[in-house]
Amino acid sequence: MADIRLEINGPTRLHGAVSISGAKNAALPEMAATLLTPSPCQLGNVPMVEDTRIMLQTIARLGGVGRLEKNQLRIQNTRLTTFEVDRELARKTRASLLILGPLLARSGRVTLSLPGGCPIGERKVNYHLDGLSRMGARISQRDGRITAAADRLKSTRYHFPSVSVTGTENLVMAAVLAQGTTVLENCAREPEVDDLIDLLNRSGARITRNGSDIAITGVKALCGFTHRVIPDRIEAGTYMIAGALPPNEITVRDCDASHNRRLLDILTAVGCTISRGKDWVRITSSPAPAPVTIATRPYPGFPTDLQAQMTTLLTQADGSSTLTENIFENRFQHSSELNKMGARIRQSGPGDLLIKGPTPLRGATLKSTDLRASAALVLAGIIAEGKTTILNAMQLFRGYERMPQKLNRLGASIKSIKE
Ligand code: EPU
Repeated sequence: MADIRLEINGPTRLHGAVSISGAKNAALPEMAATLLTPSPCQLGNVPMVEDTRIMLQTIARLGGVGRLEKNQLRIQNTRLTTFEVDRELARKTRASLLILGPLLARSGRVTLSLPGGCPIGERKVNYHLDGLSRMGARISQRDGRITAAADRLKSTRYHFPSVSVTGTENLVMAAVLAQGTTVLENCAREPEVDDLIDLLNRSGARITRNGSDIAITGVKALCGFTHRVIPDRIEAGTYMIAGALPPNEITVRDCDASHNRRLLDILTAVGCTISRGKDWVRITSSPAPAPVTIATRPYPGFPTDLQAQMTTLLTQADGSSTLTENIFENRFQHSSELNKMGARIRQSGPGDLLIKGPTPLRGATLKSTDLRASAALVLAGIIAEGKTTILNAMQLFRGYERMPQKLNRLGASIKSIKE
């Protein structure tokens, strides 16, 4: 796959409105959920990003027939022709793991390559496998491949040792066709999980949530569905942070403001002026942002997926800020890149960043390491003096739909160059 280099000329002021796409992290499990039924399924508001394209290709290799065009997915997985998930595709994205639960539930067997190493942390799969084996799956691992098999999964009670988003989604999807009532405790409360549950219930599943506990009573079969993916709260949050960079003012449209409450509280503490309706938020930056202390937590806490973008904002705050990353052990790779631009960021503990501001940033040549780090570098390039080049920027397009175009409409000057 060709990579992309971004060239950003800064500084530019961002001003105007931007429309938010569908949530990547809701679309991915929902695409995997189509494997649960032979009936036709339709998903609207699917973001046209690399990860959803790879998920569709992965399902097509299993025998599914689908088309993703103009954010609409039409798919029917009438007959599956193999239980083996394509090795190369599985390695490309960790989201392939989401196939495990639904394919096992539908076909009684699945073989999948362990998702490859990930730059943001170890990203284990033990909860997924423990939960499935509690449901009666026989699991074996050889040469980096997992095989799970079960005639019909049976109900269980499983307590997640710590919160896992895709772990919750995988076990919920596995349990919808299982025998009896499965109870999952300490589940993720992310809106993407609830969007998946809504979709499954409308297809005939019987799922109820009580706080962090989810009960799933197995049914014999699911029907097809038509569903609209919720707005992407991480994309929305990224543009809200862009609006908080002085001297910007951005109206973020077609979002669900209630999904970004924690971020909005923090942007208020930073000094931004915020006005909002149900599906829009306007952020007016403060000329002198205040420093803050933030710790990432599972929803409804501050999302790890906005930690890198927030680091860029805090380089402009007047004083010392601290950011603690509690979800992934290696998600600070953007900090050394930001330091190349003149930022003063130091890792003050295993999971802590100390950011001293305000520091004027200057253009530099940077390497993007992962999706959210890339977004942080793009925001930095927009406020930096001179030209910023971001190498390996294909990462950005795994999860942000048309980000350079959306930012250019707000006043940025970003060129994408295929390499
Ligand atoms: N964990 C385990 N064992 C498991 C599963 C998870 O120890 O079996 C640990 C992980 O190592 C990590 C923590 O639990 O330390 C949380 O991981 P989680 O399973 O919640 O992450 P995920 O489901 O793999 C999803 C998103 C990520 C997002 C995280 C946290 C999708 C497709 N991915 O990943 O999104 O960062 O939840 O909110 O939903 C992104 O979009 O940039 C992204 C990385």
